[in-house]
Amino acid sequence: MPHNDAAVAYGNYLKIDELLSLQQPRSEGPEHDEMLFIVIHQVYELWFKELLHEFDRVRRLLEQDEPHRVQHTLKRVLTILKVMVAQLDILETMTPLEFLTFRERLEAASGFQSDQFRQLEFTLGIKSEQAIARFQPGTRARVALERRYREPTLWDAFLRYLSREGYSVPPAQLERDPVAPVQPSPEMQRILIDIYRNDTKNAELCERLVDLDEGMQEWRYRHVKMVERTIGTKRGTGGSTGAAYLRSTLAQPIFPDLWAIRALL
Ligand code: HEM
Repeated sequence: MPHNDAAVAYGNYLKIDELLSLQQPRSEGPEHDEMLFIVIHQVYELWFKELLHEFDRVRRLLEQDEPHRVQHTLKRVLTILKVMVAQLDILETMTPLEFLTFRERLEAASGFQSDQFRQLEFTLGIKSEQAIARFQPGTRARVALERRYREPTLWDAFLRYLSREGYSVPPAQLERDPVAPVQPSPEMQRILIDIYRNDTKNAELCERLVDLDEGMQEWRYRHVKMVERTIGTKRGTGGSTGAAYLRSTLAQPIFPDLWAIRALL
């Protein structure tokens, strides 16, 4: 019976039994909306995993001087980001009162503790030792964060690629400590302006990086708006001031030079 065999293959390959056993509400009843809350967070974690996978590819392709394939992979990344931002609409159908039916059962759990979100930030250049210290030594999360903390960021890989393309990227930028925040650099800005004016291929690549930066900021903005309409000015379950803390992360460009040159072109 080929139909049944196919069903078994699908279930085995995708581990459907395991996947469907992973949604475990904590509320009494359980409360209807807790299922949505769990599913959406799990879906986000899967998208975070896929984004990390794609970012690793982008970095490798930059190292291999494959700008067209970098473009292609960034297009996929941006499409995923759009879907991720749009998914917040679903959670916004949950009213403040519906959230309150199970919120206290979350205790200290919060997206604040998503190690994969921190891994994404680290890969993009937003690094923090404090974020590592929140995880127990030896755990999957801690090991992954420690590795990504030391690794060059996407911007570092891009600068080295530009240097191999013949641009005179300052040595201080090429030998940058990957742990340090990316600082605006007037010399880099001069190079980027030259690229925008004279090098379509690499200007396109820069534009995709701006899309990526804007996409991440869009996610942050939509998340904080959702938080404001769901819990207002209450503190977060992760222990922060809540929306006020989240608003402080909004004005945080990933690639400051790419924003700075807009006023200079
Ligand atoms: C009702 C829905 C949600 C509420 C009320 C909420 C609330 C919050 C609050 C208050 C914070 C600040 C940290 C804290 O003190 O807890 C936070 C952080 C965070 N949340 Fe949510 N959240 C919701 C849904 C989501 C979803 C679906 C995701 C997807 C994974 C998510 C991911 C994150 C991340 C990654 C952070 C850390 C942001 C940063 O430190 O820049 N949240 N959330």
